[in-house]
Amino acid sequence: MAGTVFFSVSMSLDGFIAPGSTAELMGQQWMELQQWVFPLRFFRENLKLGEGGEEGRDNDIVRETFERTGASVMGKRMFDAGEQAWPEEAPFHTPVFVVTHEKRDPWQRPGGTTFHFVNDGIESALDQAREAAGDRDVRIAGGGATILEYVNAGLIDEFTIALSPVLFGSGIRLFEGVDAGRVALEPVRAEPTHRVTHLTYAIRER
Ligand SMILES: NC(=O)c1ccc[n+]([C@@H]2O[C@H](COP(=O)([O-])OP(=O)(O)OC[C@H]3O[C@@H](n4cnc5c(N)ncnc54)[C@H](OP(=O)(O)O)[C@@H]3O)[C@@H](O)[C@H]2O)c1
Repeated sequence: MAGTVFFSVSMSLDGFIAPGSTAELMGQQWMELQQWVFPLRFFRENLKLGEGGEEGRDNDIVRETFERTGASVMGKRMFDAGEQAWPEEAPFHTPVFVVTHEKRDPWQRPGGTTFHFVNDGIESALDQAREAAGDRDVRIAGGGATILEYVNAGLIDEFTIALSPVLFGSGIRLFEGVDAGRVALEPVRAEPTHRVTHLTYAIRER
């Protein structure tokens, strides 16, 4: 279905999508959470990390997620972390709408990524992303706070979690504060690979 609004994240088995502090962000826990992605051919090519890499179902899932995405929306903390970490050619290659209180001119990167800073809320960011995405889907890229706002507003159609075999104990919980009375989940697919389990759900209003 074209025009789907979705998110796709890696989550620890105990429900966290990031360690608690920025200092830990590129540390051991983050590396363990994302360990399934780093060896993949598509990931390596997209981040210009070099030729080669693993193929197979994990790689296909990462590539399919990229290809279906016509525009992304993200929170300011995810953007701030990425601004440090992404290469000059940021890995989106589409418009990205950053929900933030900060006023800033659009930031165009080589390779087709332009970051637009949206100050009038999540619905406005989503409207602009839908318009930019055309026939493709809109990805709510993260982080936890922004995804939760969209879930609680009833604006997410579907999501996929790559459940990583790692325990965090503390950090940023994906569903902390979810409006459980409103959100019902419908299982769509479960795909285990040798590194993670990919779980896809549709969201229905209760
Ligand atoms: N595991 C994964 O797959 C995955 C994927 C993506 C991200 N992450 C991680 O998630 C973490 C970031 O998540 P987070 O929950 O801390 O923060 P976030 O959702 O990235 O950003 C939250 C910030 O965005 C701005 N914002 C959000 N909604 C807004 C609104 N309606 N109006 C205006 N501004 C708004 C605010 O910043 P200002 O007030 O400063 O503008 C807010 O503090 C990072 O550590 C990242 O690595 C993990």
